Order: sequence, then structure tokens, then C-alpha cells
Amino acid sequence: MQYMIGIDASTTATKALLMDEAGDVCAVAAAEYSFDAPRPLWSEQDPDLWWDGAVEAVRGVLATSGIDPAAVAGVGLTGQMHGLVMLDAAGNPLRPAILWNDQRTGAQCDEIRGRLGREHLIQLTGNEALTGFTAPKILWVAENEPDVYARTRQILLPKDYLRYRLTGEYGTDKAGAAGTLLFDLKRRDWSPEMLDALDIPAAWMPPTHEGPEITGRISAAAAAATGLMEGTPVVGGGGDQAAQAVGVGAVEEGIMALTLGTSGVVFATVDQPFVEPDGRVHAFCHAVPGRWHLMGVMLSAAGSLRWYRDVLAPGVSFDELLEPAAFIPPGSEGLVFLPYLSGERTPHPDPLARGAFVGLTVRHTKPHMTRAVLEGVAFGLRDGFELMKSAGLTDLRQIRVSGGGARSPLWRQIFADIFGRELVTVNTTEGAAYGAAILAGVGADVWPDVVTASRSVIRITGRTVPNPDAVAAYEPVYAAYRHLYPALKGNFEELSGV
Ligand code: XUL
Repeated sequence: MQYMIGIDASTTATKALLMDEAGDVCAVAAAEYSFDAPRPLWSEQDPDLWWDGAVEAVRGVLATSGIDPAAVAGVGLTGQMHGLVMLDAAGNPLRPAILWNDQRTGAQCDEIRGRLGREHLIQLTGNEALTGFTAPKILWVAENEPDVYARTRQILLPKDYLRYRLTGEYGTDKAGAAGTLLFDLKRRDWSPEMLDALDIPAAWMPPTHEGPEITGRISAAAAAATGLMEGTPVVGGGGDQAAQAVGVGAVEEGIMALTLGTSGVVFATVDQPFVEPDGRVHAFCHAVPGRWHLMGVMLSAAGSLRWYRDVLAPGVSFDELLEPAAFIPPGSEGLVFLPYLSGERTPHPDPLARGAFVGLTVRHTKPHMTRAVLEGVAFGLRDGFELMKSAGLTDLRQIRVSGGGARSPLWRQIFADIFGRELVTVNTTEGAAYGAAILAGVGADVWPDVVTASRSVIRITGRTVPNPDAVAAYEPVYAAYRHLYPALKGNFEELSGV
């Protein structure tokens, strides 16, 4: 029997997952940590947290499973995207990593648009300049910490710092690299034009690899630290969203992934480098070689429900909270919730957007409010879905739903009714680390390619079919929802300053 390990360096923990060649999960271990917010809008993390976490988690899965490390055929990496790690000539981090959820770079985003032209930027990279992406962070360091910038010799994404510690090699995957805003989406490599325009030396950027490609092997030092065998191959892997999609089998055109974690994601695989002309959905490379994907990201999806529960029903379980909301009619009798509790990314890239309940009357009860939260999140993600359709994706035949929020049958039904599509659940629930392990298995020739791997290990376990009456009832409510952000945008701006 051969085994694969997927390692996920997320914002809150580094997790390791051990999978066997049948795709069964043999062990999972995680080491948790937090991130720092040293100033308003900032979000940073010490890269060594990921490395210490990886050592602990890998040792954990080897110990729990008791397998011989020589049976590990490959390691796949995934993790939080967009973060900036800057290393000096000796390979040491020069400052804490600036994370994907950091919002300090509004001025640098304007500068990037100014230098490239917004339309050209979107055509070249597939994306608008967003504060979370890597390129504006590099400009911020150049402008605000010139000493750090002068000593920089290497730029990496968070997961690639683990790759460097595991193998001694600098490298990144094409899915993650496409999230830097420095990537030529169509050519699947760094864009000399972007690097020139932003005065970033090309020598600082690591080689880029497809998801299943071997990028290096476990070094003697990493073997001593983790318990893995020296020489074990490490594959490219993918940014967390691409690896998550691999983990649920959203690897072919027409199959979408809908992820309901703290944030919410709609993800569609495409065979061509599709770009939404206004850059309102992200266009990145997939971790599947030669494929791309479109993605809409909502910042507070299940995070909205958690906030609502913690503030208005502390101590109540989600099951108890949601149960009475099933008896409220679709549309919550005219009550609409806007889920922009942490600002928003898709379709309104606006850090100042705010949450709201609109339409409250004395008739409304707590179950109405609960249902409105579930519906508001689904409306927000439908916005991303609609943008994909308007960009030309017509064959969206299956939606695979995963993440903590997908455990609720009521929420799944609301999504099916608001999207007007069937949702399916799958047998794999371990997310990005599972996808990274599949990519490792393809790199190690356990499977010939990602699609074959996915078809052989991922099965559909449940279906939620839209109810035609509810689909019809939601249309006017969705129209009302769409009118609210533009109407309230000015108020949100005003309130953010007081
Ligand atoms: C994707 C994104 C998040 C982060 C953190 O674009 O910003 O998924 O990777 O998980």
C-alpha cells in the first residue's frame, strides 16, 4: 500500500492528512495558531508558525497511523493564498508575512491600475487589483519599508515557505501564482510586463509548477524534523481554493464547487483562460494541469451565521437555531439580510461594505431573522454565480457543496432554491488537504491524472433538488437584494468614518 500526505497551511492552523491509494483518509492532525493585527487593516503571521505546525501535524499523522514513512509516495502542499513572504539572500524571512485578509494596500492598488490601465490589467492577469493580492503588498513594502525591500532576494507564498523548508527548493504552483496579480493567466507563467511595470526583479520570483508536478524532495534536515523519508517527492499542490476543488472533484468543466466555510466560494473549472471583462470574479489557473477556473469569494458566509448566533443566540447550537427557520416562508416575509460583515470581495470589492437587516417589521421573529441570514448568504453567492454565467459559462450542470455550512439540509435547500440548481454532496469532507494529497498521488503515479484520480475516489452521497415554487418565490426577493448594496453604498462609506 502507498500513502500520500496533504499539508494545508491555513490562516488558523497547519493540517496534515494521510491518504491511502484507495483515497481513504487514514489520519488527520492539526496544529493551531492565530494571526496578528498590529494596526487597523493589517493582518500578519510569522512564517515559522506554518513550519512548526507542519512538523507537528506530519509527526502526528505518522504516529497515529503507525505506517512506515518509506510507504509515503508523495507530499502535496496547499494553503492560504495571496500572502507575501519575503526572504533575504540566506533564505530567512525578513518580516512577518502579510496575509490575504490584510487591507492596507488601497493606495497601491490604485497605483497598479494607474500603471497598467484597469482593462489591460484584467485581460493580462484575469483580475482586478484587490488589496488582498500579493503584488500591492510588495509595492507597500517598497514604499514603507525600503530597508526590507533592499534586502529581499526571494518572494514566496505561504505554502511555498513550507516547500522551501521541506526541500530546500524555491518553487510555487500555478494556481497560487495566479493569485499574485503578477501572472500571465494565458501563458501560465510570471508576466514580465507586470514585473517590469511594478519594478519587481524577475529573479525574486520562484519557478512555477503544475499541481501534480514534482518540485523537489524531502531534505535530510526536513526528514529529521518531520519523520518523513529523505527523498520523498513534494509536488506543486495548489492554493487552498484550487486544492479544495480538487478535493471535491470540481476538476472538469460543468462541475462547480460551492464552499460554505467562514468565507463562501463559488468555483467553476474552465478549459480556457476565461476572463470576466470587469474583473468582478477572479480568473486563476487551476491545480489541474492546463485548466483554469473562475471564482467568486464572499468574505462572511458561514461566518455571518456564526456571528448572528454568537450575538443573538449565544450558547444555542446551530441545529436548534435553524430548526424553526424551516417553517418561515421563502423570502422571510420581506426581510433581507446583507452579509457584508467583513466588507466584501465578490461582486462588490469594497472593504467598507457593511452588513444589514432591511425590511424589519413588528411581525418578524427571530426565526425570520435566522432564515434571512441563510438566504442573504445564498443571494450573495448567487451574485458570483450570475457573473460566471454572464462571462459566458453556460454549462454549469452540477454544484458540489462542501464546508461546515453544507451540513445543514435547510441551508442546502435554500441554496438549491436560490440558485435554481441541484446541489450534490460528496464523500470527501476534508477539503484542501485532501485535494493536495490527490495531487501528490498523481505526481507519484498512483493515478495517471487528476480527473481519473477524482473519478475513482470521489462519490456523490446526496442530492438536494430545487423546489419550483420556492425558486419562483425567490426571484423578486433576489431582485430586491441586488438593489440594496448600490442604494446603501454611500451610507456604508459615511458610517465607516464615524
Ligand atoms: C482565496 C482567498 C482565501 C485565502 C484564505 O482567493 O483569499 O481562500 O486563500 O483561505
